[in-house]
Amino acid sequence: MKLKLGLATLFLFSLQSYATENTALISQGEYLARAADCMACHTPDSGKPFAGGVKFALPIGTIYSTNISPDKQQGIGDYSESEFSRAVREGVRKDGQRLYPAMPYNAYAKLSDQDIHALYTYFMQGVKAVDQPNSGNDIPWYLAARWPLRIWNAINAPNPTNSATSTSDSDPIKRGAWLVEGPGHCGACHTPRGWMMQEKGLTAASESYLSGAEIEGWFAPSLRQLPYDAEQTALILKTGHNATSAITGPMSSVITHSSQYLTDSDAKAIGLYLDSIRIEKNQRPAALQVSLTDPDKNYLRYCSTCHGKEGQGTPNVIPSLQNNLLVMADNPASLIQVIAQGAQTPQTLGQLSWSMPGYHHVLNDEQLADLTNYVRGRFAGKEEKVTASQVKTFLATH
Ligand code: HEC
Ligand code: HEC
Ligand code: HEC
Repeated sequence: MKLKLGLATLFLFSLQSYATENTALISQGEYLARAADCMACHTPDSGKPFAGGVKFALPIGTIYSTNISPDKQQGIGDYSESEFSRAVREGVRKDGQRLYPAMPYNAYAKLSDQDIHALYTYFMQGVKAVDQPNSGNDIPWYLAARWPLRIWNAINAPNPTNSATSTSDSDPIKRGAWLVEGPGHCGACHTPRGWMMQEKGLTAASESYLSGAEIEGWFAPSLRQLPYDAEQTALILKTGHNATSAITGPMSSVITHSSQYLTDSDAKAIGLYLDSIRIEKNQRPAALQVSLTDPDKNYLRYCSTCHGKEGQGTPNVIPSLQNNLLVMADNPASLIQVIAQGAQTPQTLGQLSWSMPGYHHVLNDEQLADLTNYVRGRFAGKEEKVTASQVKTFLATH
């Protein structure tokens, strides 16, 4: 009787410790899924979590992300852990077909076996199954063959077994590098792409890495010349704004679904890493006073009430136009989008959103171009001029 009781206690105890261990694993997986932003691409705006169906316009046609909930028919409920690992780190589906690189497996190659184990446990046990079929892709049949992706992969995607690094690195700069290059896949938007649509550089060893790129009519600025320090970078990743800058456009979704959930030390680690790979050149040139045929009338009428006559903004409330990445960027896309469409900081837990009106309905393309040129010339010393037809093109791409 005593022995039996002992065994039963032992059994209960091990069940309980299994449960605790499992809960810990699931929450570790959930944290990684957030850091890797699986949600943004696999959940449509008003859809069920991880049900897929988000549209991606690729140069060869349109594809849709798939259902990665644990539903056995429609989702990935039938994936074994090693099949899951191949899909996430190597871009190979359960049936052996290659995934399009819209799924950032080249970055996820940096996840370790332990990370994959946690992610898999979370997707199988912590996510609700959704019975929603996948949408077909709209790619013409002569381009639809997936086999060329094997070649693309062989050239462009790193081998996971060579690059897997530990998530539990205690050196914050290394941890930051892993978060940025790995789960965060920041390069997918911030690194320019080459002729094969590959990112030009997957680590800071390349000068092109994170040097800025155009995406969906916006410009994702260089992360190697941020005009603020690691603390302020952490703050903008967690809240969508900091003392002098604010986020809008495609980066908002990254903040809402992903970076706001990073621990303070992980957000800071990203800031420290980005600080460590700074390219000093291209710092802000002295502000120029440009003379426009139509002096800064529109700036005074529409902008200065909030951003100030000198573009200085109000710390923590209205971003500064001096030393501002969108204003300093060679590519004017994001600046034009903000002036035309307005801007709103992303929603984050317990934060009020800041917003700015758009001016497309009061200013025509010509006037928008003049105002863009004025802001770039005045606050960043840019002399190249944007034309009305470029403005039209950028706004049409959005
Ligand atoms: C930038 C967008 C993006 C992100 C982020 C992303 N995915 Fe995907 N994923 C896709 C797309 C698009 C496909 C479909 C590609 C195709 O059909 O070739 C896909 C396909 C998959 C598949 C294959 C499923 C199947 O059999 O159809 C799995 C598994 C998967 N993703 C898991 C994940 C996980 C886990 C994460 C987070 C760690 C993640 N994805 C993050 C875009 C993304
Ligand atoms: C889906 C594309 C996308 C991904 C992924 C992405 N970014 Fe961005 N990011 C953008 C765009 C576009 C902008 C410019 C719009 C803006 O500033 O609001 C931007 C702006 C930023 C800015 C703000 C610059 C400013 O205005 O002061 C920072 C900092 C930043 N990104 C960091 C990151 C980091 C770190 C990662 C990875 C964890 C990342 N981004 C991933 C698209 C992306
Ligand atoms: C009602 C106040 C207001 C007015 C008027 C206004 N803005 Fe803004 N502006 C803001 C706020 C608040 C933000 C932050 C929102 C965001 O970026 O998500 C912002 C953001 C911006 C940004 C992006 C800053 C960053 O850090 O990414 C630029 C550039 C900008 N404004 C330029 C202008 C110009 C040019 C005008 C005149 C056409 C103008 N604004 C008019 C309040 C205003």
